[in-house]
Order: sequence, then C-alpha cells, then structure tokens
Amino acid sequence: MTITTEEQLEQLKAIGRICAITRDAMASAMRPGMTTLELDEIGARLLAEHGAQSAPIVTYDFPGATCISVNEEIAHGIPGDRILRDGDLINIDVSAVKDGVFADCGSSYVLGNADQRLANLCRDGKKAMWAGIRTVKSGAPLSDIGDAIGKFAKKGGYTLIRNLASHGVGDSLHDEPGEIATWPDRSERRRMTDGLVFTIEPFLSLGGRMADQKSDDDEWTLVSAPAAPCVQYEHTIVATPRGAIVVTIAD
Ligand code: CO
Ligand code: CO
Repeated sequence: MTITTEEQLEQLKAIGRICAITRDAMASAMRPGMTTLELDEIGARLLAEHGAQSAPIVTYDFPGATCISVNEEIAHGIPGDRILRDGDLINIDVSAVKDGVFADCGSSYVLGNADQRLANLCRDGKKAMWAGIRTVKSGAPLSDIGDAIGKFAKKGGYTLIRNLASHGVGDSLHDEPGEIATWPDRSERRRMTDGLVFTIEPFLSLGGRMADQKSDDDEWTLVSAPAAPCVQYEHTIVATPRGAIVVTIAD
C-alpha cells in the first residue's frame, strides 16, 4: 500500500495500534503453566473487541488468531496445548485487518527468569530492527535496511535468518513490495517510494541462518537451521521524507 490520503494514514494507524495493544496485552498475560492456545484466545478476544479480524486467519486460514513461537520455533508457531515455562523464549506475532487495512507486528520475550544470553539477544534484536527503521526515508534504496541490520549483526557476532524477509503491507497482509531483505542483498535495486507501507522484521540469532519447516505434518511452524536461539522484532512503517512513521505502537 502507498499512503496518499490522510484518511488512509489514520486507518493504518488505527489497525497498527490495535495490533500493538493486542501484542502488549498478550505479553503481559504470559504466565508459566499457561498454554499457547490460552494466550492466543486473549489476543483473539482483543482483536474482536476492537472490530479487527486476524490477518493470518482471513488470508491463509491459519489455525490461530496470532502466531506464537516457543524456543526452537522461530516463526508461524500454531497456538495449541504447548505449556509455557519459566525461561522460555516466546515470539508473539500479531497481524490484523480493519476497514480493509492490514498491519503486522511482532516481538520476542523471555518469560520469567531470563538466561543472560537470551536477555542480550532480545535487547539486540530490538536494536537490529531499529537500525533498519532508522534508514527509512522516501527515495532511499530498500537495500539500506539490510545493509544497516547486517552491519549491526556482524558487529555483535550475531547471525541473521536469510530466508524470512520483510514485506509490503496495507492492502493485504503480504503486499507489494515483496521480499525485502533484512540482510545485505546486492541484487536489491528498488527504492522506498513516498508513502510506501512495509514491515521491518529482522530475525537475529545466535547461529541460525535459515528457517526450516519444523516437521512434515506441520506446514506452518518454522525452526532455525542450524538450531539456535532466534528473536524477531517487527513494526509496520510508512516511508516519508522525514523518515519512518511507525504505526504499530500502542499509545
Ligand atoms: Co510480517
Ligand atoms: Co508479523
């Protein structure tokens, strides 16, 4: 989607805020002993209360209102009977649609007492996302995002998952431009046109390089290859001449 009117921007901000409120409420509700389905039900209820629909359900018939990925799972985890435990690394990804406008956000958390390594990974995962967001400006090359994140990851001794890209969003969950790399990509020639709406969602890892299907009988859940802790932080943003407007913010 490309924002051309104030009304479009207001609609995008409205659904962005709903996604963020839902993500934050789910994060605050996480407790050891709870199942990922119970956590998803909190998200489903909040989306409904705000008059929004789950984007993964509407778009892909995903078996859950939100994606909840635990420990070895890095994305598209299906809510179910998995029980959350103290010290788990949990990713919550919330995308939704209202009035025909889609937004998408995600965040990783350590539940309860965090292993120092995982706490640092979360802190730096957020920094990696912001390193990408700070490059945003109308007219800038899209490759600036992956270059900035790649530089940050390298400096910290981290790896990046290289087959889970960021994407346009707005008119649909996965909109044009498709496949925006959050790692250095020499083949990228496109630019951030004025008003362009897209996500920035690097997957920062302690050794992981690719996302792989978890098992043959689960077409959704992705794990890291090689196996390693991995975090994802995602915002939906709009490119403007003054930088990025981040719309997936709760207040
Ligand atoms: Co996304
Ligand atoms: Co997402």
